[in-house]
Parts: sequence; structure tokens; C-alpha cells
Amino acid sequence: MEKESYDLLFKLILIGDSCVGKSNILLKYLKNEFDPNSRATVGVEFGTKNIIINNKKIKIQIWDTAGQERYRSITSAYYKGAKGALIVYDITRKCTFDNIDKWISDLKLNGDKNICIVILGNKSDLDDKREVSKGEGIKKSEMYKTAFLETSALNGDNIGKAFDEIIDQIIQNNKSFFEDNNKKEMDKGVNLNDSSKDNDKKKCCLAS
Ligand code: GTP
Ligand code: MG
Repeated sequence: MEKESYDLLFKLILIGDSCVGKSNILLKYLKNEFDPNSRATVGVEFGTKNIIINNKKIKIQIWDTAGQERYRSITSAYYKGAKGALIVYDITRKCTFDNIDKWISDLKLNGDKNICIVILGNKSDLDDKREVSKGEGIKKSEMYKTAFLETSALNGDNIGKAFDEIIDQIIQNNKSFFEDNNKKEMDKGVNLNDSSKDNDKKKCCLAS
């Protein structure tokens, strides 16, 4: 079998409480699908996507972890080497939002020091069942100096943007590699929204 070649490998992890929608966020991003009856993830699963940015071929490897407490020791072992983490909560369950603090500490303990973070308030389509306001989400992200978005894996709102955001932030951390120009190109079949115009990026790295 021919060996796959790429210039850079970005490892991303999806973390957060069980049932917040991590697996569906990944499913939407990779296949534009949604599963209303998805089963809880056992351990860790992963998916990949190839993108081309500034003529560099980048392989994005996304690890979807189980949110259930019993898998915690297995899943945290997968944080190592991840350049970015998407921490997900469910806007209709306040406890999943409160647990963001726990996920951040877990990352500090088990993840790389300069890991980029985006906090996602998922299930934004269920606004009538909302227990966490957008303002509370923004406040938390400001506290941790991370980016923040409300997403819906059901209707796709901000899903592409969430991955765009974290990839852009990782690129900022690998600037020398991308210095040639600012043009962002899409690989065949990849549907990332172009957020290169958004210059108002927040700092995303965990303070040591
Ligand atoms: P674990 O694997 O146990 O950690 O859960 P998970 O975070 O991967 O959650 P999963 O993606 O399996 O979704 C849990 C449930 O929420 C499923 O019934 C999904 O269909 C539903 N769900 C996920 N995302 C959304 C969303 O954006 N909106 C709505 N309405 N439901 C969603
Ligand atoms: Mg899952």
C-alpha cells in the first residue's frame, strides 16, 4: 500500500461530558450527517480529514473521546500530542457547562502546554430548553482565554467554523511554516469555511 504523504499532522481532541454531542459534531464535520440515536462512545474513536493551506498538505486527525467517567483514565491518555482541544458542553444541561472547569484542569494535567482550545456550547437548536445563556459561555471562555462558539450538530450551525477556528489558531502557533502567503485553499471534498478574514482572534493557549 502506498504511504500517505503530508506536510503536517494536526491532532485534535473532542472532550466534554457524555451526551453533549461530541460524536455528532465529528459526524457532521466529516460526513455532514447527524445521528439522533447515536450510542455513547466507548473509549476513543477517530476520524481524519485532509486540507491544503498555503500549498501545505495537512492531515487533521480528530480523536473523539468518551465522556463517561469510567473511561476517563483511558481518554486522558489520548491528550498527549494534541495541538487542539474542542471542549463541548450542552446548552440545555447546566452541569455539563459547570464541568468545563474540570475538563480544562484535566487538559492542564494531561495535555501539551501550548494546546489550543475552543469551547463549544452545543445543541443551540434547542433554545427553548436552554439552561446556559450565550453570555455565560462567553464569560467562561474569556476567563480561560479561549475561543467560544455555540454550535448545533443537528442543523450544522458553526460546526465548520469551530474546526476552522481551532485550525487557524494552531496555524498561528506554527506561523513560520505558513509564512509564504495568506491564501487558504480547500482540498477536494473539504468544506471548511474561510475565516482567514477574521483578524480578531483571541489567544487560545493554556496559561502555564
Ligand atoms: P459520549 O460518547 O457518551 O461522550 O456522548 P457524545 O458527547 O458523543 O454525544 P452524542 O454525539 O452521542 O450525542 C448524544 C445525543 O445528543 C444524541 O441523541 C444526539 O442525537 C443528540 N445531539 C447531539 N448533538 C445535538 C445537537 O446539536 N442538537 C440536538 N437537538 N441533539 C443533539
Ligand atoms: Mg460520543
